[in-house]
Amino acid sequence: MKQFDFLVLGSGIAGLTFALKVAPHGRVAIVTKKDRAESNTNYAQGGIASVTSKEDSFESHVRDTLEAGAGLCKESVVRTIVEEGPARIQELIELGMKFTESNLPGVDGGRQLDLGREGGHSKRRILHAQDVTGREIERALLNAVSRQPNIEIFENHLAIDLVTSQKLGQAGGNRCLGAYVFEKKSGRVRIFSAPVTLLATGGCGKVYLYTTNPDIATGDGVAMAYRAGAPIANMEFVQFHPTCLYHPQAKSFLISEAVRGEGGVLKTLAGREFMDAYHPLKSLAPRDVVARAIDREMKKTGAEHVWLDITHKPAKFIIERFPNIYQTCLRYGIDITKEPIPVVPAAHYQCGGVVTSVDGETGIAGLYAVGEAASTGLHGANRLASNSLLEALVCAHRAAEKILSAPPRKLDLIIPPWQPGNATDADEMVVVSHNWDEIRRLMWDYVGIVRTNKRLQRAQKRIANLQEEIHDYYWNFIVTSDLLELRNIATVAELIVRCALLRPESRGLNYNLDFPEANPEWAQRDSVVRKAI
Ligand code: FAD
Ligand code: SIN
Repeated sequence: MKQFDFLVLGSGIAGLTFALKVAPHGRVAIVTKKDRAESNTNYAQGGIASVTSKEDSFESHVRDTLEAGAGLCKESVVRTIVEEGPARIQELIELGMKFTESNLPGVDGGRQLDLGREGGHSKRRILHAQDVTGREIERALLNAVSRQPNIEIFENHLAIDLVTSQKLGQAGGNRCLGAYVFEKKSGRVRIFSAPVTLLATGGCGKVYLYTTNPDIATGDGVAMAYRAGAPIANMEFVQFHPTCLYHPQAKSFLISEAVRGEGGVLKTLAGREFMDAYHPLKSLAPRDVVARAIDREMKKTGAEHVWLDITHKPAKFIIERFPNIYQTCLRYGIDITKEPIPVVPAAHYQCGGVVTSVDGETGIAGLYAVGEAASTGLHGANRLASNSLLEALVCAHRAAEKILSAPPRKLDLIIPPWQPGNATDADEMVVVSHNWDEIRRLMWDYVGIVRTNKRLQRAQKRIANLQEEIHDYYWNFIVTSDLLELRNIATVAELIVRCALLRPESRGLNYNLDFPEANPEWAQRDSVVRKAI
C-alpha cells in the first residue's frame, strides 16, 4: 500500500495544476495511465478563452458562455470562472507557458498576446500558442512539476476503482480513501491511499466511433465516481466538434475552430456556402448549430464530408498561424493554402460529468473532481469554445485552496488488497475488442448528433446486454487495461443514454426529434443519475 497526502488521478491541465498547488503542503502521487503528457490537454489547439484585452469585458465573456450553454449554465459559476481567469493565466505564464504574441505593440510598449477568435465568441479573446496550445501547456506544467520534490509521477498506472468507506462496510458517511491502481508493466493491482483524491481523468470521446480525442479518453473518472455512489449529471451533452479531418489514414485529427475564426468557410461538396441558412454567425455559429448543420447537409446530399475552405487567405499567414494543421494535412496530401480541407463532425467534449461545486467538491467526502471529468455548471447544454482549459485552471486552483483551508486528517486504516476473483489468463481478447467496437458504433449510430427515443431505447438494451457480458468476462479473468477501459466506456455509454432519456426536450447538444423544441420547465434542470449502493 502506498500512502500519500494527495492522490491525483490524471496528468492533464487539471491534475498537474492541482498537484503544483498542493505540493508545498504534502506528498503528492500523480497516477496516469500512459506517458505523462498523453492527455486531451496535449492535443488542444485553439487556446484558452480569457478576458485580457481592453476591447473585451467579463460581462461579454459571461454573456457568450450563457448563450452557448442554451439556458442551462449556472450563472454564478460562469461569473467566478470568467472573472478568475486572468489571474490563473498570469500564473501559467509565470510558470513558463509561452503564448503567441501579436505583432502589435501593447499599451506599455511591450508586446501584446495574440488573441484568436472561435465560434460563439463575440470578441477576440483566445490566448494560444500557435495551433499547439495544449502541447505547450503540458510542457510548461510538466517542467514545473519536475522541479517539485514532493510530487511523484506513476506513468502507465491505470486507476481501476475508488476505495470508499462505504465499500469497506464502515459506518458513517461515504468517504474516499484512495484507489486501486493497475500497474501495466507488472500486471499487479496496487493500493494508493490518501485523505484527498482528485479525479482529473478527462473526458470520454472514445465512447464514439469517430472522435477528436486520443485513446486515453474512456471516461474512467466518471465511471469510477458513479460506481462509488457520486451523482453524475448532464452526460447527454456530448459536444461534437464540427471539423475533424476526413481522411482514411488520419486518426482523430482536429482542424481547429480557429481556422474558421480566421475566415475559413464551410462549403458543400458542390462548393456552396451553407451556414447562412442556419445561423446569422454563419461558419462561426456555436458548435451545436454548426455540427447539426453539417450533419443535415451530409444527410441531404449523401456526401461523406463537407469542405472547410481557407484558401482565400495568404499562404504565409496560414502557415504561420496554423503550422501544425498545415504540416499534418500536407502529410496526408492536402495543401490547405491551395485546396479546401475535407471535414466531418466527431465526438469531442463531455459537457457533463461528476457533479461538483466550483471548488471541485463531489458528493463523496475526500473526493474532488476537476476538468473535463467534472460537471460544475459552466458549460450548460453546450460548451463555449476554449472555455474548458480555463475551467480546469480556475477550478484546480479553487479545489486546492478549499482543501488547504481545512486539511483533512491523515488516514489511519488498512485497506484490503484487490480481490481478483477466480482469475486465470484471458485467452479470448477478441471478445473485448469486439465489444469495444460494438459500443462505439452503436453510440455513433443511435446516440449521435440527432437522437430519437426509439434509438435511445434500442441503444440502452444493447448496452445492458454488453454490460452483462463484460461483467462475466471481467470477474472470470485477469484484468487488462483494455478490459478495464471497456467496462468504463460501457458505463459511460449507459449514463449518456440514461441522461438523454431523462430530458424530454431539445436543448443545446441534446437534439431529440421526438421533442424538437426546448421545454421551459427544463431550462434550469440538470439530468442527474446516481447508483443505488
Ligand atoms: P485530460 O487532459 O484529458 O487529462 C486526463 C488525464 O487522465 C490523462 O493524463 C489520462 O491519461 C489520465 N487518465 C484517464 N483515466 C485514467 C485512469 N483510469 N487512471 C489513470 N490516469 C487516467 N479545450 C479548450 O479549452 N481549448 C482548446 O483549444 C481545446 N482544443 C482541443 C483539441 C482537441 C483535439 C481535444 C481532444 C480537446 C480540446 N479541448 C480544448 C478540450 C480540452 O483539451 C480538454 O477538455 C482538457 O484538456 C481536459 O483537461 P483534463 O485535465 O480534465 O483532462
Ligand atoms: C479547437 O481548436 O477548435 C478546439 C477548441 C475547443 O475545443 O475548445
